[in-house]
Amino acid sequence: MSKLTIALAKGRLLAPSIKLVESLGYDLRAARASRKLVLASNGAQFLIAKASDVPIYVEYGAADVGIVGQDALRESGANVYEPLVLGYGLCRLVVAGKRESQDAEWKTRAGLRVATKYPRAAQNYFSTRGLSGEIIALSGSIELAPMVGLADLIVDVVDTGRTLRDNGLVELDEIFKSQAALIVNRASHTLKVDVIRQLVEQIESKQDF
Ligand code: PRP
Repeated sequence: MSKLTIALAKGRLLAPSIKLVESLGYDLRAARASRKLVLASNGAQFLIAKASDVPIYVEYGAADVGIVGQDALRESGANVYEPLVLGYGLCRLVVAGKRESQDAEWKTRAGLRVATKYPRAAQNYFSTRGLSGEIIALSGSIELAPMVGLADLIVDVVDTGRTLRDNGLVELDEIFKSQAALIVNRASHTLKVDVIRQLVEQIESKQDF
């Protein structure tokens, strides 16, 4: 059977993704114990990549399969199959702002600045609603931007809501819900159909992922 290369997203999804993969019989102890980015186990190769890069590795075929959040997948715009959602890594992409924004009819304001690490999703949200917003792309700690006057609003993922709360921000609108998903390169989906189908069935048979 042909060998699979599977890209795993670093960050919050890595621990549950390793748990899922190990429940399928692969040994990824080296991913926890070292900084290695390429690991081999049981005839498969695993790549540890930044979440936003996993869809790119899969789209270009450097990995056959990836495990990544739908937030990063949508933001990438990558042309890949998404045959399975995995039921963990639940979060939501939202518009948020300072408490006073709630009463400020923010949707009618012109010249809003919106800080985000999801510029594609944010631009899409604002333009499809005919809202005025200048998108400011940042890399992290997005909640800082409204606090120091860099932006009026943010578009960011919310999990527990703690980061918003602790920084005096409130949710204004939900853009989409996200969870971890299995993604598959389009060529691999055809060329490695048996091994990929087997992987999908193995994952589906797990009750506790
Ligand atoms: C993410 C996200 C929020 C936070 C939300 O950031 O961008 O800041 O988590 O989680 P919560 O609702 O549970 O508080 P992450 O921790 O990935 O770091 P970053 O801001 O540096 O990207």
